[in-house]
Amino acid sequence: MTSATATKRAETRAPGPKHNIEAVRQEYYERISKHDMTALWKVMDSVVTKEPVTHCVPVIWHFDDIKRLVMESGGLITAEEANRRVLILENPALRGQSKATNTLFAGVQMILPGEIAPAHRHVSSAIRFVLDGEGAYTAVEGEKALMSPGDFVITANWAPHDHGNESKKPMLWLDVLDFPMVNFFETSFAEQFPDKTQPTGRGDGDSLAFFGSGVLPDGVPVEMKQRTPVINYTYARTRPILERLKKAGDVDKRHGARVQYVNPITGGSALPTMGAYLALFPKGFKGEKYRSTDGTVFVCAEGQGSTTVDGKVLEWGPNDVFVVPPWKHYAHNAAKESVLFSISDRPAQEALGIWREDRNPV
Ligand SMILES: [Fe+2]
Repeated sequence: MTSATATKRAETRAPGPKHNIEAVRQEYYERISKHDMTALWKVMDSVVTKEPVTHCVPVIWHFDDIKRLVMESGGLITAEEANRRVLILENPALRGQSKATNTLFAGVQMILPGEIAPAHRHVSSAIRFVLDGEGAYTAVEGEKALMSPGDFVITANWAPHDHGNESKKPMLWLDVLDFPMVNFFETSFAEQFPDKTQPTGRGDGDSLAFFGSGVLPDGVPVEMKQRTPVINYTYARTRPILERLKKAGDVDKRHGARVQYVNPITGGSALPTMGAYLALFPKGFKGEKYRSTDGTVFVCAEGQGSTTVDGKVLEWGPNDVFVVPPWKHYAHNAAKESVLFSISDRPAQEALGIWREDRNPV
């Protein structure tokens, strides 16, 4: 080999003197970029993080503000014009994205007396937690569920649903949907029905009576194993169970006396994408710190207290809604006996094998 050839090979292997390396790399990055490629080593630390990195922040919406502003929207637009008259609760760190957490939408819907929110269906599943009013209904797959405060109403993937208010008072509820998750997978479908309401042939409460009573109708259809057949898990039936847990001493140091809403056929979560819990905290409860990878939306159903999230104190009272981001330490404190409802994407994370918790954070 001649010395000239050896030098040329060395130049091909090693891109020049050290002080030139950054310029050579930069030229390389620009060149590969034209081929829609980029170097993993430049972004490795930000895409494969050592711990979860959340883009949402702890936040609370107080019901006084929510109700005042939602009521104001009643004079601006009808439920029918709006299709759904909902004010979105947007995480301050995710403004413009219609998200409370990175995977969950949260909003407060109102239906005034005599109004109908027309029938439609969509791939996104919805959880509704009733805040205020009495006797408006959500009709889902032929069952008209009359709603009362604290009720937990489910509209599963592709289930036709409409809402109406035949009572004399405005009805407000919290809607939580999984559409940020559905849209992440780019799998959204939706359709409106020609008629404003769907025919309802089943009695109010049929689904809870049939499936939530320790017995099952003979020959349960297979599809009911995919998601819960219950339309409305009423507060009237769930709340006394918390009282029994408290009396039995089953009070978790972090989560209080808590029940999970399940599909009574499988014992799994009510929906495959979203999980919901109802928890009672005795007066004076001072919770231990906890964190998990599911970002959670909480609603105070009763009582008064606070939740410290990542050092920030969120003071809550009835119907206040707040967000705990993923993997942030939090602890609940109850000044009065309190009940918190919560929703997260935990079932989806568990199904994918990526959910983690830290029960003893330092
Ligand atoms: Fe809907």
